[in-house]
Amino acid sequence: MSFQVALNFEDGITRFIECRPDETVAEASYKARINIPLDCRDGACGTCKSLCESGSYDGGDYIEEALTDDEAARGHCLPCQMTPHSDLVLRIPSSAAAAKTGPAAFGATVADIRRHSATTVEFALDVDNRDGLDFLPGQYVNVAVPGTDQTRSYSFSSGPAQRQVSFLVRIVDGGAMSAYLTERASVGDRLEFTGPMGSFYLRQLTRPALLLAGGTGLAPLLSMLERMAQQPPGRPVHLLYGVTTDEDLVHLDTLEDYAEVVPGFTFDHCVADPASRARTKGFVTGLMDAGTLHHGDADVYLCGPPAMVEAVRAHIASLGVTPASFHYEKFTPAAVRTTAEAA
Ligand code: FES
Repeated sequence: MSFQVALNFEDGITRFIECRPDETVAEASYKARINIPLDCRDGACGTCKSLCESGSYDGGDYIEEALTDDEAARGHCLPCQMTPHSDLVLRIPSSAAAAKTGPAAFGATVADIRRHSATTVEFALDVDNRDGLDFLPGQYVNVAVPGTDQTRSYSFSSGPAQRQVSFLVRIVDGGAMSAYLTERASVGDRLEFTGPMGSFYLRQLTRPALLLAGGTGLAPLLSMLERMAQQPPGRPVHLLYGVTTDEDLVHLDTLEDYAEVVPGFTFDHCVADPASRARTKGFVTGLMDAGTLHHGDADVYLCGPPAMVEAVRAHIASLGVTPASFHYEKFTPAAVRTTAEAA
């Protein structure tokens, strides 16, 4: 028996290792040829100190100089001492390159191309080594656009346990992936991607969550909801989904399905275009008050274009509310992603 440990590095690259309950995370990392930061290996120096964001474990033996009680209470841990009691997600204080590892590469076959509208296309892949691909719900990969030397970053819209992986793409004029998907792509095409990447992933929920999506920023939140369908969150989860025009509005039926199967999940949506058929016109900020944020006792996950991310941050500040945690990811039409976290 072993548990899965996600090692999330400072440069956003995530590697997954198997760790038995009777071995330390550092030992398991070493066996996987991943050199996480280590010095004493004895719980004395604190060099390996990491942050556990999900899962339970035995912290092992160590001295106060390496890890204080306060740090341990906040989830900090020592991989050279800790043994897992469940799957874990750890933030490792080094780059993947410094740990002599990097993103994994995968080959895949295009299994489906779904043209939701003129602005939004979804594609699904059968991954060659699907069992070798693990990711956290919310993460993305860098996809090599077939027939070009370009890569684009896309968040999984599928859940980690689903065999086929899928991605949502906003179609933009002159975009490399847009041109491929609208002009050349066929089921059966081969493509490659590397990853998984990013620190915008679902943490263990200990309080209500507010999910905010702008346009195809819905993709990582769909992945999170798929995980919640498998592992009920035990907390209220509300999603606000904002788009520019009715054509951008996708997967409302999927959200309705999740509302049926994920206990405590509700959602609302709005469209900025005044000519929209949507019940609510405007921006997601118009649907957010202090109560939506549980007066601060909420974890916020936001994925959207930069202007939306900034508008939401400013709106939350204007409400005089500070969410318990705030995770966001900005994407641009070229799908360059910035992930960050504000306490
Ligand atoms: Fe020294 Fe872990 S390596 S405390």
